[in-house]
Amino acid sequence: MPLDLEYVRSQFPQCADYPEVVFCSNAGGSFVAAPVIELLNHYNTHTRVQPYSPFTPSREAGEAMDKARANWAAALNVEAKELTLGPSTSANSYVMAQALGQDWGPRDEIIICQQDHEANIGAWARKAEEQGATVCEWAVDPATGLLDPEDLYRLLNDNTRWVFFTHCSNLMGTVNPVAEITRQIHARSPARVCVDAVSYAPHHIPDVKALGVDMYMFSLYKVYGPHQGLLYVRAELSEELAGQGHYFNRDDPAKRYNPAGPQHGQIAACQGVLDYLEALHVRHGGSTADDGARRSAALYDLITQQERALAEPLLDFLDSSGKVQLLGKTHCRDGDRAPTIAFRPVAHSSAAVAAALQADGIGTENGDFYAPRALEAMDIDPADGVVRISLLHYNSLQEVERILAALDRAL
Ligand SMILES: Cc1ncc(COP(=O)(O)O)c(C=O)c1O
Repeated sequence: MPLDLEYVRSQFPQCADYPEVVFCSNAGGSFVAAPVIELLNHYNTHTRVQPYSPFTPSREAGEAMDKARANWAAALNVEAKELTLGPSTSANSYVMAQALGQDWGPRDEIIICQQDHEANIGAWARKAEEQGATVCEWAVDPATGLLDPEDLYRLLNDNTRWVFFTHCSNLMGTVNPVAEITRQIHARSPARVCVDAVSYAPHHIPDVKALGVDMYMFSLYKVYGPHQGLLYVRAELSEELAGQGHYFNRDDPAKRYNPAGPQHGQIAACQGVLDYLEALHVRHGGSTADDGARRSAALYDLITQQERALAEPLLDFLDSSGKVQLLGKTHCRDGDRAPTIAFRPVAHSSAAVAAALQADGIGTENGDFYAPRALEAMDIDPADGVVRISLLHYNSLQEVERILAALDRAL
């Protein structure tokens, strides 16, 4: 069944706001789904008091927060006590670096991945350096920006404590086979695995237990939700780690790794993302009685089909133009490419092409997108960086046509 785009766009009020602009900077932050806006509004209008006391608005506030946590845990197939909802992924990784790195020493090694956003590199590398541990790097292919898992496996040894890598780069757009790579890491070394899914989750909410990872992180403000970073820490791992909030909150899973303290209304509103996905499923023939796996598979097919239809003409155009260096795979045929499309123009600066596109009504940007290490490895100056067009399922083919025409003029 094709995606009912009219329905989808009716669920994102911002789609109707600026018809003169094609918004294609979704990897920086998505539009917000209507149920999220309603829940945030309801929280602030009716239940904005200190939550979790027995009197009426306070109890309701706490219940709304607990509901969001419990349902996000169910959607990811993890336990609610394994979830932290913190201010952002960058804040979550910074906090977790303090928790994980306390006992790293000169014999220990960690592996970071050149394809990552700095949020899944810098905090771990700094902590390792502080502790005298060794930082190894899983490098990208300098021509494509893609990763070869064999390069990673060669870095593993008995001293490897952690491997940090990305589910989907915010520049290459290619989905890395997380379950297989994680299985290999665990089979070949004692290392644990942390995956940054910030650029993956907007396209699919995965079964995190099935991935086998030890930590998993993404940002809900890129998944149509409020500004929150969602962090999964496997329960057995969590028991070994020191809490990072107030000492008396050590056993409270909602506060254990959140020294900022839970952001009450934002957390309650996280439920709205799941409400939107459930409504989308029902709208396309699903039932509210379907189990999580069935709903997730149906939504995956629905969303991927639309996103592939959006990405294909853009990739074909850019790949055949001879005017750009395209990052990542040049096609979606393998079923592992998100519609996050970055390129370096050959004859112009990225800044000039981005400016021309913006003047032509295309809401895009240029830069390093906080992944300068990947660009440097590809011999691209991070200061000018690349132009990035990042789409989500609410974008339309008509918008893609406008982007293509503007690209033709700008290049
Ligand atoms: C792939 C990726 N990882 C991590 C982050 C950091 O997320 P946050 O803004 O929640 O700190 C971003 C943000 O752009 C990102 O694109």
